Amino acid sequence: MEQYVIKGGIPLVGEVGIAGAKNAALPIISAAIMSDEMVTLENLPDVNDINVLIESIEKIGAHVERPDRHTVRINGSTIQSCAVDYESIKKIRASYYLLGALLGKYQEAEVPLPGGCNIGSRPIDQHLKGFRAIGAEVNISHGTIIARAKKMHGAHIFMDVVSVGATINIMMAASRAEGRTIIENAAKEPHVVDAANFLNSMGADIKGAGTDVIRINGVPKFHGCVYSIVPDMIEAGTYMFAAAATKGDVIVKNVIPKHLEAITAKLIEIGCEVEEGDDSVRVVASKRLMRTHVKTMPYPGYPTDMQPQIAAVLSLAQGTSIVTESIFENRFKYVDELTRMGANIKVEGNTAIIDGVPQLTGARVSSPDLRAGAALVIAGLAAEGFTVVDDIVYIQRGYEDFEGKLSNLGAEIRRVSTEDEIRKFELSVG
Ligand code: UD1
Repeated sequence: MEQYVIKGGIPLVGEVGIAGAKNAALPIISAAIMSDEMVTLENLPDVNDINVLIESIEKIGAHVERPDRHTVRINGSTIQSCAVDYESIKKIRASYYLLGALLGKYQEAEVPLPGGCNIGSRPIDQHLKGFRAIGAEVNISHGTIIARAKKMHGAHIFMDVVSVGATINIMMAASRAEGRTIIENAAKEPHVVDAANFLNSMGADIKGAGTDVIRINGVPKFHGCVYSIVPDMIEAGTYMFAAAATKGDVIVKNVIPKHLEAITAKLIEIGCEVEEGDDSVRVVASKRLMRTHVKTMPYPGYPTDMQPQIAAVLSLAQGTSIVTESIFENRFKYVDELTRMGANIKVEGNTAIIDGVPQLTGARVSSPDLRAGAALVIAGLAAEGFTVVDDIVYIQRGYEDFEGKLSNLGAEIRRVSTEDEIRKFELSVG
């Protein structure tokens, strides 16, 4: 099992380049199999979730080439099976995007119920409701979702909750149904817009992505295209908070500053300077941070995927902060780990009350999920002494070369897999 060992207390300084968004790339790779012509995807993040999904589309027969780690070419004309294998896909939640893609293209899909991050119950009833509305029969049998349609037709669908996954999944399937589908109360996240733009590049007719009403006119087939994935706002936000926690000065490059506004607003509230460029943001933290309150909301609200990272930063801010999680029910599992590093946090229901402390101290902690793992790394970078973060396999699901990018910013961090390597690192950096 790999771990990160970190010597904290060093301000991060320099520039970091941001990869393509994992949460946009996952539906886009899935949707790419809907074309029988070559689709080239650029700016792909080289992270575990993406690589698992690429392997599983290869297993159902898609032709895949990877000319370099950030580019993939996919041709769906060779697909032989609409049944996705459990072993290959169980680790990633976004396996559900293959349902919408296969159903849209072949009117048939068999996909095991998704796994993924352990952040609470994650129903997919809204996805299934949408598929049923456009004419599919959907059953769950032996842990697998089986969706079939004789013919798919347009429908007017009201989402009961704002769901990124359901919005994109229904958009994919409906883009090949006959007639017009309207999705009301749709999610507005940048990756919903990116998935719609990609589908349109393959010939789909989708309007309104980025607003809460999306209109889709079904088309009979898709063609090939070349498409570049949008930058990852969560990866960018993570480095912005790492700069804040370490009192650093970091330019985060290859971003769309507009997507980062909710994050930027919080950094300014807690006393950082944030300078926006055309495709970069610079975060400078020169004084002790101040408290704030934050509540996670669907986009353009403050993202739930940035909740653990801001909590790590606020654990060092002056005063009492309140963090409310309104999207997922079990997203404070990292709090006990931060407490081991000296943070003063009490969780009541979906709220964390954080009394800021002047200093965290390094400890051995374990990463409970992807974003929480990133938050523990941020805490370790700011803490005095050595921190060992276990279970970094979660972090590797979503952050490309995390330790390399942090090292380039001056951090003392190493990926290790034995106690011996930890000791060597501790001796080498003193
Ligand atoms: C996606 C992201 C995840 C992010 C989340 C919210 C991917 C692969 N993952 O997850 O990182 O944290 O958006 O921004 O893109 N819900 C239902 N029924 C459904 C679907 C969702 O009740 O059918 C609820 C969920 O339990 C949750 C809320 O809706 O409370 C939002 O979930 P959703 O937006 O669907 O999250 P994901 O798409 O799974």
